[in-house]
Amino acid sequence: MKRDILTIAMPKGRIMEEAMEIWQKARLPIPFDLEDTRKLILTIEGEAVEWILAKPMDVPTYVEYGVADIGIVGKDVLMETEREVYELLDLKISPCRLSVAGLPQTINHEIVPRIASKYPRVAEKYFREQGKQVEVVQLHGSVELGPIIGLADRIVDIVSTGRTLKENGLVEMETIAHITTRLIANQVSYRMKQEKIKEIIERLSEVI
Ligand code: PRP
Repeated sequence: MKRDILTIAMPKGRIMEEAMEIWQKARLPIPFDLEDTRKLILTIEGEAVEWILAKPMDVPTYVEYGVADIGIVGKDVLMETEREVYELLDLKISPCRLSVAGLPQTINHEIVPRIASKYPRVAEKYFREQGKQVEVVQLHGSVELGPIIGLADRIVDIVSTGRTLKENGLVEMETIAHITTRLIANQVSYRMKQEKIKEIIERLSEVI
């Protein structure tokens, strides 16, 4: 942990665009070369702040280990990674659902249905709590392929607009959780850098 600098883990991709909007509205500083860079650590001139650009699934890891003081991350990733971090604020951006989906009108003959997912832990927990035995196969993307090509009976995945499901002939069957983006903090940083972090929470709260 860098004593005098607040390090923020930002997830590269979809969430970052919306997070930046809210950051801007809250008058929090943003690195100006963000759009046009491959750099993974960005500093902001005149500000004791740095951003690290991370894969969304890795954000809680950076925050738990304290190499980032705070982070922006989807509740889906928090549920999957189960990292020891403080969840400080619901930014209410990037809303979506974590759902079970599959091909319509299929009768499942399998005794142990196979579930494809980027969220193996969430999937396993969900079916276990329902008393159902399943085999979970982890994929890293394009999960909707699973039932179409016969790899899996069902998927557990993010549904946002529902377009990916629709265009691939799949239907949403059960909702596991409603998801939004959260602000998280390292537990030690939250104490040591309380003033800075609280100011960010206050400013963000005003614009949520
Ligand atoms: C996510 C998710 C779905 C899709 C849902 O995938 O895993 O596939 O978005 O969005 P929709 O309901 O608006 O269609 P992502 O785009 O992150 O790509 P990936 O499948 O390669 O992970």
